[in-house]
Amino acid sequence: MSASASGGGASGGAGPGELLVAADARELAALAGELMARAIHSAIEQRGVARVAISGGSSPLDTYRHLASLDLPWPSVEWFWVDERAAPPDHARSNYGSAHSALGLDRMPPERVHRMEAEAADREASALSYERLLRRSFGVAAAVAFDVMTLGIGDDGHTASLFPGLGFTGVEDRLVLAVPEQPSKGLEPRLTLSAPVLHEARLSLVIVRGAGKRSMIEAARGPGDVEAIPSRTIQRSKGRVVWVVDREAAGDAR
Ligand code: 6PG
Repeated sequence: MSASASGGGASGGAGPGELLVAADARELAALAGELMARAIHSAIEQRGVARVAISGGSSPLDTYRHLASLDLPWPSVEWFWVDERAAPPDHARSNYGSAHSALGLDRMPPERVHRMEAEAADREASALSYERLLRRSFGVAAAVAFDVMTLGIGDDGHTASLFPGLGFTGVEDRLVLAVPEQPSKGLEPRLTLSAPVLHEARLSLVIVRGAGKRSMIEAARGPGDVEAIPSRTIQRSKGRVVWVVDREAAGDAR
């Protein structure tokens, strides 16, 4: 592998996190997929189960395909979503649908795959029901700490479905949020994990591709207002944060 790496941020705590720059799309998928696989193996060794939270978007799909080709203890992995769009599971906009097919989740027992029902008429009820599911899965007194979480960043600085200007980056008392429709951006309503849940992940993999994201990577890893650039919330993660980006996206960030 010819990927170059640079460290960053306080170890195991706040800060921009590590940055891995992959030469091309294939290497990016292999790097991120291997990191996911290692985290899954180690969680299963330590706790008997690996809980993985999956972001949508196009950037992580090759990584999911790579992971799907690896020899993993699949029955011991539980799949959750970081965020979901108001679309039925077989719709092209469904994060569940695209990740399900890229990861080959039809091999999984259905009780291990936890779709967010963002298309429900009562999205608030759907958010609360996903919160209850997380509480049951992790334990009521335990942190909802995913073993591995994939994240992306949007052109407007969002991560998960924490969009700028909606006031969600400061919500501390919820695990899952119902995000309203944003007609000015052509975006449907969504469900998303809250910032405190993002911060608890043991490993966050931020997967970003393309020159168009270059300035946003710098903004997300730099100082400034979190509500203006919600992906800055990743700097507050308590676990390991690894940005896996391609050369075009990296620019001067290393
Ligand atoms: C979604 C996401 C979102 C995504 C970014 C990056 O449902 O849209 O989970 O947060 O990660 O928008 O998307 P791309 O990978 O397509 O650039």
